[in-house]
Amino acid sequence: MPTPPLALYVHIPWCVRKCPYCDFNSHGAREIPEAAYLQALLADLETDLERLPHRALESVFIGGGTPSLFSPQTIGRLLERVARRPGLAHDAEITLEANPGTLEQARFRGFRDAGVNRLSIGAQSLDDTLLQRLGRIHDARAVVEAVTAARDAGFANLNLDLMCALPGQTPAQARADLDAALALEPEHLSWYELTLEAETPFGRHPPDLPDEDTRAAMQEAGRERLQRAGFEHYEVSAHARPGHRCRHNLNYWQFGDYLGIGAGAHGKHTLPQGRILRRWKRADPGAFMAAAMAGDAVAGSETLDPAEAAFDFALNGLRLTEGVPMSLFTQRTGLPAVHLEPARGTAVARGLLQDRPDRLRPTDLGRRYLDDLVALFIPQGN
Ligand SMILES: C[S@@+](CC[C@H](N)C(=O)[O-])C[C@H]1O[C@@H](n2cnc3c(N)ncnc32)[C@H](O)[C@@H]1O
Ligand code: SF4
Repeated sequence: MPTPPLALYVHIPWCVRKCPYCDFNSHGAREIPEAAYLQALLADLETDLERLPHRALESVFIGGGTPSLFSPQTIGRLLERVARRPGLAHDAEITLEANPGTLEQARFRGFRDAGVNRLSIGAQSLDDTLLQRLGRIHDARAVVEAVTAARDAGFANLNLDLMCALPGQTPAQARADLDAALALEPEHLSWYELTLEAETPFGRHPPDLPDEDTRAAMQEAGRERLQRAGFEHYEVSAHARPGHRCRHNLNYWQFGDYLGIGAGAHGKHTLPQGRILRRWKRADPGAFMAAAMAGDAVAGSETLDPAEAAFDFALNGLRLTEGVPMSLFTQRTGLPAVHLEPARGTAVARGLLQDRPDRLRPTDLGRRYLDDLVALFIPQGN
């Protein structure tokens, strides 16, 4: 069984202010223990790398939270250590998530010099009223300035995060948002529908959102708009210009391996005998730092049984418009294709999956009702 590619995710768990819709592991903080957190990240990285001594890293994603709150020097120290790992390709994709409210020109150059070659800018909207309703710390102008500054600093690979179905948003406003984002000419656009997460202020006191029909119409019109602009819709929320799909995220969806360092970060790797191990780190930043410095920040782990591995594979691969080759199932899980039955057969019979032996690929209907399609693969007995 060939070893899957290995990626590295680094989590930074702080933001200037917590947004009312967000349930990521992030905390609004005025003072951030940046130096101590860097030491903890380096210790955590060392421990993880020791476990997988002979595997090259293929991409790095520094996410959060708001990694752009950290100084370029800190990001540089982290990436220096990563670069010492033998086998990191010279053109490895190295992404940093940035909030437009935290950026000024000098920082962009600093991140670029530190080795970051892809920026993911959290725009969310380019409408000041909607940005305020979302509790964002920046206005639309800051997004435009961030993109300009990123280009000036030499970034040739930019993603914009944009959300739709926002409180009180009309279809015309959603269209205008997409047009404004496209005018900034990003290489990649992550276009999410706002979801109400239970444990957030928006979840507890839901704002007035567009109804289901309006949301569906927004999605359809938006996807057509993006396609006309030359973007490939390659995953549920991901749109890219040809050649600019996010390699790091593709590795998740294609069921590759990844290390996750930092508070609450999840990792997955394939053990020498072929079983898949998932591990996650302590979520509380203080507890994570103490545990990482003591040599073990792992909060929990599980080894997947064959039915769980098959489900996880389907859950990820079916997010991709083109799906995944059946041969990848065996390569990644070590299991024969029969482990995807009878769910595969049922999905084909219901018109949710294309009827082909070489590929697990959703139909248009399957993409529309992805949750129903994925539910068919849930291990029996759960
Ligand atoms: C972890 S955030 C990182 C970006 C950065 N912290 C920022 O917000 O500028 C990644 C993206 O997830 C999306 N997101 C967060 N909460 C969401 C929600 N409740 N529904 C839909 N998308 C959400 C946003 O587009 C956000 O930019
Ligand atoms: S800035 Fe990003 S990570 Fe932080 S709270 Fe807002 S959406 Fe969540």
